Amino acid sequence: MNIKGRFVTLRAVEEDDLEMLRDMMNDSDMEQYVVGWSFPVSKEQQHNWYINLLTDSKSKRFIIETKDDGAVGIVTLTDIDWKNRSANHGIKLANRKNRTKGIGTDAVMALMRYTFDELGLHRLDGAWFDDNVASKGLYTKCGWSVEGVRREYVFKGGQFKDLAIVGVLASDYYALIEKNHYWD
Ligand SMILES: CC(C)(COP(=O)(O)OP(=O)(O)OC[C@H]1O[C@@H](n2cnc3c(N)ncnc32)[C@H](O)[C@@H]1OP(=O)(O)O)[C@@H](O)C(=O)NCCC(=O)NCCS
Repeated sequence: MNIKGRFVTLRAVEEDDLEMLRDMMNDSDMEQYVVGWSFPVSKEQQHNWYINLLTDSKSKRFIIETKDDGAVGIVTLTDIDWKNRSANHGIKLANRKNRTKGIGTDAVMALMRYTFDELGLHRLDGAWFDDNVASKGLYTKCGWSVEGVRREYVFKGGQFKDLAIVGVLASDYYALIEKNHYWD
């Protein structure tokens, strides 16, 4: 079952997507937003990542697709914890021209609907750097809250950066869609 937003579709990763995903991994501008650390990724490494994905039951990764532009990014549920009913979540749009058009909002809203209505999870976890205004704007709009700050937690660009720990509960999502009528 593909996951439908208002206008995006979240679908399985296919082999044909690997070059787009590798370009994103190797995009040095993207690094400033990434919490972990990155390294240049070869075609073979990207392919191995894909093979591992096929049998990974704890993480799900979906391609964000639009009618006009096809595959535009990736949205993830990782470290799914079926006991506490939580998962980590991340999102990346590959091309700058596809940003600030509401794609991120629609992808996160669709993922939250799937997470809470289909998987029965209770909360999602995430993190952002204070200077990532796009991420803050996106997740605030989608009902997420800052739950704490890990001070000087990530070493990046020659400095230790604070990392905001953020999350959303199923109840936050249901309150949001009642208020903004997202799916009406
Ligand atoms: C973060 C990201 C997914 C946002 O996706 P997007 O499609 O551009 O977001 P949207 O267009 O849905 O915007 C949602 C809200 O965020 C805010 N926003 C988005 N981009 C912004 C920017 N560059 N500057 C200021 N506010 C911004 C706006 O408030 C917007 O709401 P509005 O349009 O109602 O005003 C995208 O910028 C991206 O891929 N960035 C690089 C990777 C990344 O940072 N991932 C997240 C790591 S935590």
